[in-house]
Amino acid sequence: MKKLVVITGAGSGIGEATALLASQKGWTPVLLGRRLEKLQAVEVKCSIPAYSIPCDLSQSRDIEQALQKILAIPNSSLIGLVNNAGIFLRHGPTENGLEPWRKQFETNLFGHIQLTQGLIPIFQEQKQGSIVNVSSTLGLRPTAGVSAYSASKAAMNSWAQSLALELGKDHIRVNCVCPGLVDTPIHAFHDLKNDEKIKALENMKDLQPLGRIGNPEDIAKSIIFLLGEDSSWTTGAILSVDGGINLT
Ligand SMILES: NC(=O)c1ccc[n+]([C@@H]2O[C@H](COP(=O)([O-])OP(=O)(O)OC[C@H]3O[C@@H](n4cnc5c(N)ncnc54)[C@H](OP(=O)(O)O)[C@@H]3O)[C@@H](O)[C@H]2O)c1
Repeated sequence: MKKLVVITGAGSGIGEATALLASQKGWTPVLLGRRLEKLQAVEVKCSIPAYSIPCDLSQSRDIEQALQKILAIPNSSLIGLVNNAGIFLRHGPTENGLEPWRKQFETNLFGHIQLTQGLIPIFQEQKQGSIVNVSSTLGLRPTAGVSAYSASKAAMNSWAQSLALELGKDHIRVNCVCPGLVDTPIHAFHDLKNDEKIKALENMKDLQPLGRIGNPEDIAKSIIFLLGEDSSWTTGAILSVDGGINLT
């Protein structure tokens, strides 16, 4: 029986690292993201066969189709869901316009709410499951210029805790990881080359009490912990994995 872990935004960064670690544990990654070629590139790196399902989380129809495909995977039981996909738009609280707010919330929150609603009945039927939301340290404490992003992540934290309250009776756990600054394609500095990249990382390292920015595996290890049996008495937790930046 395949043990499925559905991971959104699995084509790069934290989602990719989580998929690879999950596959090393013998869990079957179900990779969701907008671009099939990115998902397939991760699929071939997994330790066991995985599934790639293209899905734009801002499109309700895509999510319905993805749910059908997940439910049709033969000889499987769903053990986990990682709500990880996200976009990071710069938009300050005094700037006019709702469009960045809509975009930010559609992908980071609403798409995940629809996907999760579609999978909860399976978890309930099995009386087991672990859901991990990838939030952000900015969901705990916003910084200037990224208010819509920060608000979407604060909402993600609150939503996770509401779910944890409601789903505990069904033995379904729901937790959040709040990454700090992590070197992934979501940041422009990720694609800098050679000396420029070294300089950028050097400039940012002292922002963290632990003296370095994070890598995707730092976050993936915590996600794997929250997905698995080692955290079997943990639900509703908001876990900072951020080199201590939240304290500064
Ligand atoms: N890196 C950091 O410093 C940091 C810090 C705190 C929190 N986070 C959070 O960590 C999560 C993962 O980000 P990352 O840092 O690993 O960056 P990333 O490599 O850019 O990953 C984000 C993923 O989300 C997917 N995605 C974006 N919009 C989507 C949509 N509408 N539908 C489906 N998939 C979509 C992207 O793939 P496609 O473009 O192919 O769809 C991409 O693979 C995000 O939620 C982010 O907010 C990151």
